[in-house]
Amino acid sequence: MGRLFRWFSRPLLALQDSEKAHSRSLLLLRLASSNPLFRGMLRLIYKPKKQLQTSCFGLQFSHPFGLAAGMDKRAEALRGWESVGLAFAEIGGVTMLEQEGNPKPRMFRHGRDRALVNRMGFNNPGSEKIVQRLHKAGSQSIPIWANLGKSKRTPLDEAKDDYATSLTRLWPFIDLFVINVSSPNTPGLRELQHGDHLKGILTECQQANRLCSEQNNASEKPLLIKVAPDLTTEELNSILDMAMSCGIDGIVATNTTLQRPNEIHKVYNEQGGCSGVPLRQQSTEMIRHIYAYTNGTLPIVGVGGIMNADDAYEKITAGATLIQAYAGFVFEGPGLTKAIVHGLHKRMKASGFSSISEAIGSANK
Ligand SMILES: Cc1cc2nc3c(=O)[nH]c(=O)nc-3n(C[C@H](O)[C@H](O)[C@H](O)COP(=O)(O)O)c2cc1C
Repeated sequence: MGRLFRWFSRPLLALQDSEKAHSRSLLLLRLASSNPLFRGMLRLIYKPKKQLQTSCFGLQFSHPFGLAAGMDKRAEALRGWESVGLAFAEIGGVTMLEQEGNPKPRMFRHGRDRALVNRMGFNNPGSEKIVQRLHKAGSQSIPIWANLGKSKRTPLDEAKDDYATSLTRLWPFIDLFVINVSSPNTPGLRELQHGDHLKGILTECQQANRLCSEQNNASEKPLLIKVAPDLTTEELNSILDMAMSCGIDGIVATNTTLQRPNEIHKVYNEQGGCSGVPLRQQSTEMIRHIYAYTNGTLPIVGVGGIMNADDAYEKITAGATLIQAYAGFVFEGPGLTKAIVHGLHKRMKASGFSSISEAIGSANK
């Protein structure tokens, strides 16, 4: 199936504008997964036959691989993600206000390097409309995460209310929240990764989380912070110190990078965040550092340049408990999940581990 995608679908998609190709693929998945017969067929083709049970954040995952933020910004294809075998899906980024995002074109592909550059700018219908979609979609069979961003119009000083409002609205429908302070495409957003701004956002979101849990007579939802790969070590350490002192549940590492490979190519001249293969090593190094700095006490979700099982295993042995991809699906297609889960299973056995949890951080020991 991977070859079929590489030989036929990928060249066809490459002829289309990146964002249009993305919208068409998403529409196709939404349509296919709205019918039980097609859902069954998708499962038959794409769902991994092997399981790699993982539990983290008080949630159960059939294996450690899920969908990264940005692919399903509008929560359009919720049923589809489970049908193609993913263990969890992160919707969004969702902001408090509906917004169009940056002018098009704003998403660019470099096929040979398997790299993407995007400056989408949190195009999404806003948390109020997303709630309606989630309500209509009903409960899902895999954990659904939400990526929370700040509305462009909201000043940085009021960011905490923006995040907490979306969290409160989405709370009944979402299993885990990722506080995204690391997108490079909203002016000033990355400043929220530091000092009082971050403290304010975390405190406000935790309060909102507590309130929702009391009102719903249920446990609080896990809260994670998503960081940029362009932070200095000192900046990253101070985020980790704050996350641990505030009782944050985990870190997502990483978002897209502002750096570019040395190669000259028109895609790399575009403004925005770069992801895919050029980000892989930078994100893995960051995971390695976070794991070492926190003594493996703060669970890490590893994301950045995962294209195959080797990349996935590298992230896990560097310290990631769960892993995600975006670019990998664009360049390798929907067969990626099966290839990764089966490949991880093989590598885990070859290393003599009886469960995937034994592999976490093993390259650092
Ligand atoms: C078009 C596009 C949109 C994205 N939107 C978001 C977003 O809204 N929130 C977020 O935290 N990350 C977003 N990301 C970043 C991805 O979730 C991921 O962290 C990054 O692409 C690295 O993973 P990859 O190399 O597998 O693509 C986006 C990435 C792309 C390519």
